[in-house]
Amino acid sequence: MKDQLNALLGDAQATIAQAQSTAALEQTRIAFLGKKGKLTAILKRMGSLSPEERPIMGALANETRSQLDALLEARGRTLKAEETARRLADETIDVTMPGRTKSLGHKHPFSIVLEELEEIFLGMGFSVATGPEVEWDYYNFEALNLPQGHPARDTQDTFYITERMLLRTQTSPVQMRVMERQQPPIRIIAPGRVYRSDAVDATHSPLFHQIEGLVVDQGITMGDLKGTLEHFAKRLYGEETRTRLRPHHFPFTEPSCEVDLSCFRCGGKGCPMCKGEGWIEVLGAGMVHPKVLRTGGIDPEKYSGFAFGVGLERLTMFRFQVDDMRLFYVNDMRFLRQF
Ligand code: DAH
Repeated sequence: MKDQLNALLGDAQATIAQAQSTAALEQTRIAFLGKKGKLTAILKRMGSLSPEERPIMGALANETRSQLDALLEARGRTLKAEETARRLADETIDVTMPGRTKSLGHKHPFSIVLEELEEIFLGMGFSVATGPEVEWDYYNFEALNLPQGHPARDTQDTFYITERMLLRTQTSPVQMRVMERQQPPIRIIAPGRVYRSDAVDATHSPLFHQIEGLVVDQGITMGDLKGTLEHFAKRLYGEETRTRLRPHHFPFTEPSCEVDLSCFRCGGKGCPMCKGEGWIEVLGAGMVHPKVLRTGGIDPEKYSGFAFGVGLERLTMFRFQVDDMRLFYVNDMRFLRQF
């Protein structure tokens, strides 16, 4: 038995010295000192010894065990130190490596102009209202004095969800939704997406954006409309901008007008931008039709109001002198970064 213990010690010494990692060393410990280990196997045979031999062998076995413990401990310390050193070497940061640059996003030109516009109108006491893009025929047409079969519906063909539900063709339905839940004084703008079944070209897109405006109060006149739009145009395009109202027709306003601004490229002399006219048409407007007020639950004998609708695409194209609307939709950073 003594020989067996000596052999075991020699065997263990060699195996421990060869262990190349703390994990391998742990395996070695289990192989020698574990419950099913080699030392335990030898000790199990102690029962077959004579009573005189037993204490001597017991002491020898304990001695062997502490030697093994000591060897394991020493090798363990060395391996651990090596592993730490290797990890530190692996994790060293090379500060001379080129960094990974994060490219920051950029506000879309529509957002830039819309935020400016909102700022201008908030300054005049307006608040921002919104409505759904999937809209009832009732709000988009019917309640705005465009009953079934009205010829003006043809100019705003759209995508129908059902017979009575469609993608809104204009932001004007928000007017009615606001009037239904609020009595005058009303002063809102309503920006949002609108849809028409138009083919894409430099000035058309089946999806575009409008901003609606609505003011209803006692004694509101066309003068208030003109003053409001003049202030807006000067703030957005510069003090020298002039405003011109031209008679027009919209079913939900009476009287109605189209509003031109003096060309900010040539100042009104005529240039390619304004096609030689000196003026650029930017929006539709008018005094809210008494029928529309009544449908919205507002007494037209007591109140009057004005409304307008303006295309965000046009405003942005003029603002940044971009001549093709499609550029705004393709998300090319080389274009978008310029604004
Ligand atoms: N909704 C009209 C359009 O899309 C624009 C418009 C004209 C809106 C006159 C108005 C308005 O509020 O009073 O062509």
